[in-house]
Parts: sequence; C-alpha cells; structure tokens
Amino acid sequence: MATIYVPQVSLVPRSAGDLDLLRKTNMPAMTEHLGGPETEEQLVARHRRYLDPEANRDMFRVVLPAGEVVGSTGYWDHEWHGEPAHETGFGILPEFQGRGLAVAAVMAVVGKAKTVGRHRLLHAFPSIDHIASNVINADLLAFIQG
Ligand SMILES: CC(C)(COP(=O)(O)OP(=O)(O)OC[C@H]1O[C@@H](n2cnc3c(N)ncnc32)[C@H](O)[C@@H]1OP(=O)(O)O)[C@@H](O)C(=O)NCCC(=O)NCCS
Repeated sequence: MATIYVPQVSLVPRSAGDLDLLRKTNMPAMTEHLGGPETEEQLVARHRRYLDPEANRDMFRVVLPAGEVVGSTGYWDHEWHGEPAHETGFGILPEFQGRGLAVAAVMAVVGKAKTVGRHRLLHAFPSIDHIASNVINADLLAFIQG
C-alpha cells in the first residue's frame, strides 16, 4: 500500500504585518479568476478591513509547520436567499501550489468556521472556468454546522 501524504497547515489570524502577503496574493497569476489585481490604495483598504474586529470577518495566513507563509484564507458574512451565511475564499502562492495545500487550508477553515463561526452555512463561489477552485469546492458546496 502507498504512503498517504497529508499536508499540515496552520491558520494564523492576520495581523498588521500582513500587507505584504496581500500584495503577493494580488499578483496577476493569483487574481486571474478574481477580477484582476487591485490598486495599492484598494489593497491598503482591504488590509484594514481584514484587521477590523467589527467587520464580521475572520482572515488567516496559511503557514507551514516550519513557519513559511504559503497563502491566505478566511470567511466573512454574506447573505444567501435571505439567510445569513459565511463566504470563504483562499489563495496559495504560486511557488507552493500543486501540493495539496489549498485543500488542507480549506478543510482547516471549514473546521474553524464550524467551531467559532456565526452561521450555519459556508459558501464558496468559484468562477465556472476555474478548474482547481471547482475541484476544491466540490467538497465544500455547502457546510452545515453540527
Ligand atoms: C486555486 C488554488 C488555491 C489551488 O491551490 P493549490 O494549493 O495548488 O491546490 P491543491 O494542490 O490543494 O489542489 C487542489 C485540487 O485542485 C487540483 N488542481 C490544482 N491545480 C489544478 C489545475 N491547474 N488544473 C486542474 N486541477 C488542478 C488538484 O489536482 C487538486 O485536486 P485533488 O484534490 O482531486 O487532487 C491556487 O491555484 C490559487 O491560489 N489560485 C489563485 C487564487 C484563487 O483563484 N483562489 C480561488 C478562489 S477564492
């Protein structure tokens, strides 16, 4: 039987020093399916929103056991057919892609939302032509708190 490799990641709450991570996840290769890169001004505003404790948004950097920051994920409030819910998003930096880290990060964020989230549902909205994102979201179409 083959050895099964399960990547380990930690989700660390985003902090004031994470503007650079936001700049990295803003590059064209990372935003192709998300509407393209934002301006520096938009990024700074986004960074502030990510850190705002009143924003009903839990945002994390994705960190390997050795401490390398490989991406980001999180969840925030939105509404779906009149019901309050969470929406999630995720990004893994290009040099770390293809190792199962997005799946590991998404599973971790599902666990986090399930234990401390504010709503019963967690949604993701991948664009229809984004194959990798759709593969990941196949596990995630809807999430029901137990
Ligand atoms: C989408 C993204 C998060 C995938 O990250 P990743 O770490 O490479 O993904 P994983 O290695 O965990 O792979 C996840 C699945 O997608 C598949 N996959 C990854 N890249 C793929 C590609 N280019 N084409 C087809 N399938 C792909 C993998 O085979 C894997 O499937 P499996 O679980 O059946 O083996 C990454 O490409 C990214 O950050 N993109 C930019 C941001 C973005 O678009 N985020 C998504 C919307 S919020």
